[in-house]
Amino acid sequence: MSSEEETFQASSSSSSASPPPASHFIGKKEDIVKAVRVTKLVNGCRNVLVLYHQGQLHAMDTRCYHSGGSLQYGDIEEFNGKLCIVCPWHKYKITIAEGEGLYQAVDNPMVKPLRTHWCSKGVKQRIHKVTEVNGDVYVTLNNSSEAIESDVYQTERYRTL
Ligand code: FES
Repeated sequence: MSSEEETFQASSSSSSASPPPASHFIGKKEDIVKAVRVTKLVNGCRNVLVLYHQGQLHAMDTRCYHSGGSLQYGDIEEFNGKLCIVCPWHKYKITIAEGEGLYQAVDNPMVKPLRTHWCSKGVKQRIHKVTEVNGDVYVTLNNSSEAIESDVYQTERYRTL
């Protein structure tokens, strides 16, 4: 990976010095690092949260898949070895790399004290790709046709609430 460009969250990286096709400029990396979290309406249609954590940039739908909580105010904590953003509304845990919803299941409710283990609900929050080119940060929207629950809060109705 060159010093001119680093691709975060994606398994692939590119050595070119131009932004990926169909990507959208978010801001200067130094400004995002300073702000830690930035939200932006991308392509006029999607509210995206870009956050900087432990040297990496991540992007996801801003509103929580559960009930539309603003993830920009969520803490980041590690659960079951995965970094998660914790929604400030009802404390749902969402992995910042995959958008998975995590929860703790009880092994056997009849056995006290209760023992729990972490489970995944699958991908619930749409994660987008972040690319840095020459200090500029771009987001490429994840346009997969697969429905993801956070899509519900990307309608005009919720964006204007
Ligand atoms: S709105 Fe996020 S946990 Fe309920």
